[in-house]
Amino acid sequence: MSYNNILSEVENGIQHITVNRPKQLNALNKETIEELSQAFQSAEDDKEVQVVIVTGSGDKAFVAGADIKEFASFSVEQGKALAAEGQKKLFDLVAHMGTPVIAAVNGFALGGGLELAMSCHVRVASDQAKMGLPEVSLGVIPGYGGTQRLAHLVGKGKALEMITTAGMIDAHDAHRWGLVNQVTAPGELMDACLKMAGKMKKNSPKAIAAAIAAVNAGYETGKNGFDEEIKRFGEAFGTADFKEGTTAFMEKRKANFTGE
Ligand code: CAA
Repeated sequence: MSYNNILSEVENGIQHITVNRPKQLNALNKETIEELSQAFQSAEDDKEVQVVIVTGSGDKAFVAGADIKEFASFSVEQGKALAAEGQKKLFDLVAHMGTPVIAAVNGFALGGGLELAMSCHVRVASDQAKMGLPEVSLGVIPGYGGTQRLAHLVGKGKALEMITTAGMIDAHDAHRWGLVNQVTAPGELMDACLKMAGKMKKNSPKAIAAAIAAVNAGYETGKNGFDEEIKRFGEAFGTADFKEGTTAFMEKRKANFTGE
């Protein structure tokens, strides 16, 4: 499929998705959200895709937020719809994917950009990256899940400090705070992501999807993470991947998972 605002290609079982609006620092307008939604959904539906890596084009920004120029004249109703549709189409979709998603944070990840990175399962950042939720400086608040996901990742106090000051933190502070998993030199960012993806690819896709669902359940209203874990653990015993994984262990060989 061809897109206007993103690049998407599959290589060695990894879907690389790049937000490609470098002149606007990869800001997320409506069309970009739509295209990202389609690309992530196609990754989720494609059995050949075992990991997704999302990044921004150019060396300056991952994503500098929602497109301010696009929403500047919105009404209350349009504002609500922007957040509701964006969360459903993209941010919740990414967070709930069974295929693990790595954000390669190559520069500014602000507002909707940090929210996109936080929807991903893992974040690796270049030491040049800067992160923040500056929405209150515009008279609005984070609307793509940032008030919730930032507090989940760094705790309520630090989340409220970042949100109320509208400040940016660097990659090293983000690492110390638990917002990113790893920091690399800019030239090593993609290699670090590929290395992590390589480790993920060795494991059962079926079990990875179940583990993501169990972890997510602990953060969702009305769900009990422990109950979800028990259910998913039990279901794993009925999968071909479980038979293969345990058989391979006993036969002292590497498992060859099919994701069934
Ligand atoms: N939306 C639209 N355009 C943006 C943008 C955004 N979020 N961020 C940057 N751009 C555009 C700029 O307008 C500029 O375009 P022009 O050349 O046509 O004027 C171009 O990208 C380059 O940006 P700057 O000249 O500002 O670059 P800089 O190096 O001086 O500053 C920056 C970089 C600090 C990231 C600055 O661009 C900035 O503060 N951007 C906005 C960040 C922001 O507030 N993000 C939150 C958006 S609101 C949101 O995301 C809501 C939500 O949760 C749903």
